[in-house]
Amino acid sequence: MQRRILVTSALPNANGPIHLGHMLEQIQTDIWVRYQKSIGNKVIYVCADDTHGTATMLKAEAESTTPEELVEKVRQEHLQDSEKFLISFDNYFSTHSDENREFSELIFSRLDERGLIFKKKIKQLFDIDKQLFLADRFVVGDCPKCKSPGQYGDNCEVCGATYDATDLINPRSAISETKPILKESEHLFFDLPKYQSFLEQWTGSGTLQPQISNKLKEWLGSGLKAWDISRDAPYFGFQIPGTENKYFYVWMDAPIGYLASFENLCRQRDDIKFDDFWGRDTNAEVHHFIGKDIVNFHALFWPAMLDATGFRTPTKVHAHGFVTVNGTKMSKSRGTFILAKDYLKVLNPEYLRYYYATKLNGSVDDIDLNLEDFVQRINSDLIGKIVNIASRTASFITKNFNGGLADDVHDPTLLAQFKETGKEISNLYENREFNKAVREITGLADLANQYIAKHEPWKLAKNPDKSNQLHLVCSQAIEMFRILQIFLKPILPNSAAKAEEFLDTDPLLWADLDKPLFGKSIKPFKKLLDRIEIKTVMQLVTEPDQDGKSMLEENPSTTAPIGIEDFAKIDLRVAKIESAETVDGADKLLRLTLDVGNEKRTVFSGIKEAYKPEELEGRLTVLVYNLAPRKMKFGVSEGMVLAAGPGGENIFLLSPDSGATPGMIVS
Ligand code: MSP
Ligand code: ZN
Repeated sequence: MQRRILVTSALPNANGPIHLGHMLEQIQTDIWVRYQKSIGNKVIYVCADDTHGTATMLKAEAESTTPEELVEKVRQEHLQDSEKFLISFDNYFSTHSDENREFSELIFSRLDERGLIFKKKIKQLFDIDKQLFLADRFVVGDCPKCKSPGQYGDNCEVCGATYDATDLINPRSAISETKPILKESEHLFFDLPKYQSFLEQWTGSGTLQPQISNKLKEWLGSGLKAWDISRDAPYFGFQIPGTENKYFYVWMDAPIGYLASFENLCRQRDDIKFDDFWGRDTNAEVHHFIGKDIVNFHALFWPAMLDATGFRTPTKVHAHGFVTVNGTKMSKSRGTFILAKDYLKVLNPEYLRYYYATKLNGSVDDIDLNLEDFVQRINSDLIGKIVNIASRTASFITKNFNGGLADDVHDPTLLAQFKETGKEISNLYENREFNKAVREITGLADLANQYIAKHEPWKLAKNPDKSNQLHLVCSQAIEMFRILQIFLKPILPNSAAKAEEFLDTDPLLWADLDKPLFGKSIKPFKKLLDRIEIKTVMQLVTEPDQDGKSMLEENPSTTAPIGIEDFAKIDLRVAKIESAETVDGADKLLRLTLDVGNEKRTVFSGIKEAYKPEELEGRLTVLVYNLAPRKMKFGVSEGMVLAAGPGGENIFLLSPDSGATPGMIVS
């Protein structure tokens, strides 16, 4: 039976550009959506920009524009980035829309009618200078527990304590840098505790991944608190009906954006009706794909709100982990905060889709984008194994058989195995275990390549008596390639489209597994994808800033504790500075040539203000040996030397005691 499925990705914030973290989510969702379409389900995929809140307001102010203009400009940019990554939204809307206002007001009034809204006066930090109540992330101060400076108003990044912004020691406004005062104001609350037993049931009913529902069980165990859904003016958002100057909190109207985007699409299309998907007794499915950081909004507040106001609740909420780059959190100061548009300047989007697919496993574990691994997977698996099957055999069909494929199957057992594995691959897609699906697919590609290697078509082609066998072998290889394209199409839709052109076939669907091409004709083969070079990929990570100074500025006292197993990942070696040179155009960098025992390394180091090049030559220091190479404006830096101090002239290079020799491991 055809399933009807509405799918969403979380709504990106309008106050920043799309980066490769957002793309993980959209690619995961899109692969699932395309797979569902391939097996014949009716799927609608909607998203939108999340536009409201203080951050948008301040950003518009800083750019001397209106919030309305800003969010529309950003929405266009976001949509363009996503489209270039081949994300197949049916609608990409905005939370700043009539539809969203209507649903927000409707939901609020129903909550109110059911006695689920109450008013309460609360005291909050207020920026007198800006005449603005300060959200937690706009207050900084010292942690009330460990006293670390520079912590935000909700939790401490050093000791992990959570607290109220009013508990911070020496709080200041991050906007005006002035000291905020405590000011009272009346707020509207959603009486979430009334939904305690509903949520206990709902979160344990298979709607969530086990890791997530266990986590929520802990939270639910300590009791739910009422949720403040209002904010005081000035605020960019929707004014709450019946109030003078209160606005819906951005997180109240953001998930309602899913309804609004879908409703907006229904207004454009005759084949879908809002109630068929959101009515209480529908059998359509709703799937939300989100990051692990926003689980409470989607698995507590949202289902409670929907249930309280006469809508259905989501069928499933699928949470994923965070993208790290070369093993660490994406960070601007490390130069690993990769924007979607910067990626697109240098690389084909399908590479990232493929790479993420090889890593995604349906859990909330973080996903590492390791740039060397990335190159390896693309070149040896995707290009080397899969694309090659057609390129090694198609030319024989074109030249020797005028493009016509043989009528018969050469190795039916092998072909049956391809189709049989399709069932497993299908299950894996359904369960979002894309990494295993890719493994099955590359496993089949290995079999296809072994088949070609065994029958050696290039040898058969030299012997006119073997022409029939050549025809059979190459035709079967093309058929296996076709099947692999069916399996890969959710991940690589553009490549599949090129393959369809080559195979001269209609758009491939899962059901086409049973419709082999034998007896038909194909067109000349054109390359689907090119190999990539590490050099190109390294352009994704830029230097921290052009002098390399931010590496030294990162204050070690503000990093969280790590275990010995984390430390063990760092390979430190004694290095001898063979030469040190100044770098044209860089005020703070020296180019060091290091002897690390059995090899030489070039490292750019931001130590020029502290050392004359000749002082350094011949001395020993410590190199982070396994730091991924980083492309800088002046060349590639192959590691990092260790130094202490705040920077500028005050930098002190580390050295081992005498007796140490280049290449020795530091531990
Ligand atoms: N606006 C909210 C979502 C509202 S949904 C009703 C929001 N926006 S966001 O722009 O910060 O994030 C959008 C999505 O991208 C979230 O699901 C978030 O988890 C995900 N990611 C943001 N950074 C990420 C990584 N570095 N890695 C993976 N996903 C990440 O949250
Ligand atoms: Zn602390």
